Amino acid sequence: MKKIILVVGARPNFMKIAPVLRELKSHPGDFETLLVHTGQHYDKNMSAVFFDELSMPRPDIHLKAGSASHAVQTARIMEGFEKVLFDFRPDLVMVPGDVNSAAACALTSVKEGVPAAHIEAGLRSFDRTMPEEINRVVTDHISDLLFTTEESGRMNLEKEGISSEKIHFVGNTMIDTLVSLLPKAARKWPELSESMDLSAEGGRGREYVLVTLHRPSNVDDPTVLKEIIDGLERVAEEVPVIFSVHPRTAEKINNLGISSVSGQIRFLEPLGYLEFLSLTAHASAVLTDSGGIQEETTYLGIPCLTARSNTERPVTITKGTNRLIESTSDAIFSEIRRVLNQGISGASRPELWDGKAAGRIAQVLLAV
Ligand code: UD1
Ligand code: UDP
Repeated sequence: MKKIILVVGARPNFMKIAPVLRELKSHPGDFETLLVHTGQHYDKNMSAVFFDELSMPRPDIHLKAGSASHAVQTARIMEGFEKVLFDFRPDLVMVPGDVNSAAACALTSVKEGVPAAHIEAGLRSFDRTMPEEINRVVTDHISDLLFTTEESGRMNLEKEGISSEKIHFVGNTMIDTLVSLLPKAARKWPELSESMDLSAEGGRGREYVLVTLHRPSNVDDPTVLKEIIDGLERVAEEVPVIFSVHPRTAEKINNLGISSVSGQIRFLEPLGYLEFLSLTAHASAVLTDSGGIQEETTYLGIPCLTARSNTERPVTITKGTNRLIESTSDAIFSEIRRVLNQGISGASRPELWDGKAAGRIAQVLLAV
């Protein structure tokens, strides 16, 4: 029997861990699990809402770390997580993605002699100004098991001298969640589109653009954020623009003195997963800087414009619907217009993004 801790903390972690937890719990004779929530995200719509939607059990332990500077947040998580390790004495700690919670828990584990497994290993933006890139590199280099979502992951890890025996290409657990919940999200569409005035007679719905942004490079600098909002206002004069506003972004938009009722953009609180997935699946285009949403749009074949100069998920460009664009008003306006007129052709689904990644992870864990 292997005792395994699974860590969640920030919004994208829930979608990545839910299928793995479910899979491990379906082997009760082989695995004993403990779900730990670091508390990095804590608003209802950034955390609690996902447990019911994703049919995830409530966390066994909540560390309540909350928001703080990088050092303070990371330190709080490490301090709380160390106590959990002492009490539970796991054989393995599994961390997802590139958020502070993942790096903090992996580091705490390996220092206590407990091996760490990294879900979504090997992704690289090669941009060390991103806090996530530091978390990726640190987590990968101290983990014993590296589960990759795309082939670039293996190439990056091997170039960095990591032994190929540790690397397992399993696919994408965030896509597992999407595949299992897409039918449920589809059932939400009639009521959702009606309530948001997005339905159109006979068709799949009205044209609209869905937006999420939360990277410090886009939202923390008021000049850049103003440019982006300006570009979106220009788009909103032609088609509805629906902006799910991350709490970091809400604070920065507030600081700019922009009111949610003054322009045409429809600013919304963060949405639940099912509503957001339903809106993504029917969007004419998505503008984002989110890692996960680049992948979800790729799977769904929805045109995605990523307001960044790089992506750690190159398969979303080489195979998928993703395109990098500048965070300027003109680029946003002209690129969205181009996509609305021409769409994006020739996209296909990346290898092993088939809803079965968590099953492959369990097979690896049974074999090691
Ligand atoms: C974090 C991750 C980022 C990930 C994103 C997913 C790091 C370094 N960053 O960014 O990689 O893409 O989550 O959404 O781990 N806040 C709230 N309520 C909440 C959570 C946050 O109001 O429930 C506000 C606080 O003012 C906080 C700010 O958002 O200071 C930023 O939160 P934080 O978790 O530090 O970083 P994110 O920008 O959310
Ligand atoms: N998401 C959501 N509601 C929203 C916006 C996003 O449920 O209003 C989901 C999205 O479908 C994806 C995940 O949140 O599964 C992505 O998280 P986020 O963009 O916060 O983080 P990143 O992927 O950039 O780390």
